[in-house]
Amino acid sequence: MRDPARAPELPGATVVRSTYGDRELALASLEGVRTLLMVSAAESADRLEQHLTFVDAAAAAGVEHVVYTSFYGAAADATFTLARDHWATEQHLSASGMAVTFLRDNFYLDFLPALVGEDGVIRGPAGDGRVAAVTRDDVAASAVAVLLAPEQHASATYDLTGPDAPTFGEVATILGAHTGRPVRYHDETVEEAYASRRRWPAPQWQYDAWVSTYTAIARGEMAGVTDHVERLTGHAPTGLAAYLDSTSTDRQNP
Ligand SMILES: NC(=O)c1ccc[n+]([C@@H]2O[C@H](COP(=O)([O-])OP(=O)(O)OC[C@H]3O[C@@H](n4cnc5c(N)ncnc54)[C@H](OP(=O)(O)O)[C@@H]3O)[C@@H](O)[C@H]2O)c1
Repeated sequence: MRDPARAPELPGATVVRSTYGDRELALASLEGVRTLLMVSAAESADRLEQHLTFVDAAAAAGVEHVVYTSFYGAAADATFTLARDHWATEQHLSASGMAVTFLRDNFYLDFLPALVGEDGVIRGPAGDGRVAAVTRDDVAASAVAVLLAPEQHASATYDLTGPDAPTFGEVATILGAHTGRPVRYHDETVEEAYASRRRWPAPQWQYDAWVSTYTAIARGEMAGVTDHVERLTGHAPTGLAAYLDSTSTDRQNP
């Protein structure tokens, strides 16, 4: 943790201060660690540099196996700009000499309801592209399965997806049916997408990331459904309608 005061109290857990970009602190915090779950850092201009520093520190500290939360379709030329940084992190991990397992998460399904604007419209240049979004609970359960027996997953890459891959038009229909208010999808042009996001002050790399979220979907790069969550956890992943049902049940039974 960067701030140990924020750590939850968990039985058997020891909290140590660490941060990805500070080699000395990272080295000290990783002493005695054999298996490391590395969750990609908060998005920033120098996130890749921080990742590389932390990976080097892990190797120097004697970590044996790193499980890294990467991104679906990670590649040097991925349309989603941040997936390129995940690829570079994977490459660095593979060259480090440590055993590695990559969890390539698709977009988070839990986040889809937040894409609806106050006017009930989802806007973005995703066209008719499909997105095999996955819940964070399914990602977490998959990570736990790997961490319980890391040696069985050395050198493996898992593409973590939901059970299906709806278009944004279909996402809007499902959200509308569950919220009781009309939701529709507006397929922006790329220029419209940049213009509509510039109302939030942000650096250029952030706009590029936001817009390429949608263009990656438009190009089919987020579409393929896998059985990797089920293979790891023993249960089928949760889709959007079932996820929304479960959250409305939670609200009724607090
Ligand atoms: N697949 C998707 O659709 C999707 C969606 C959203 C996010 N993500 C990715 O998932 C990751 C986690 O997102 P999040 O929103 O949960 O992030 P977050 O809340 O900013 O950070 C999650 C945890 O990582 C720690 N952390 C963040 N940056 C760090 C750093 N530089 N050094 C050390 N610890 C650091 C945070 O520590 P502190 O408590 O000290 O802040 C926190 O405990 C990010 O890489 C993000 O890009 C993916």
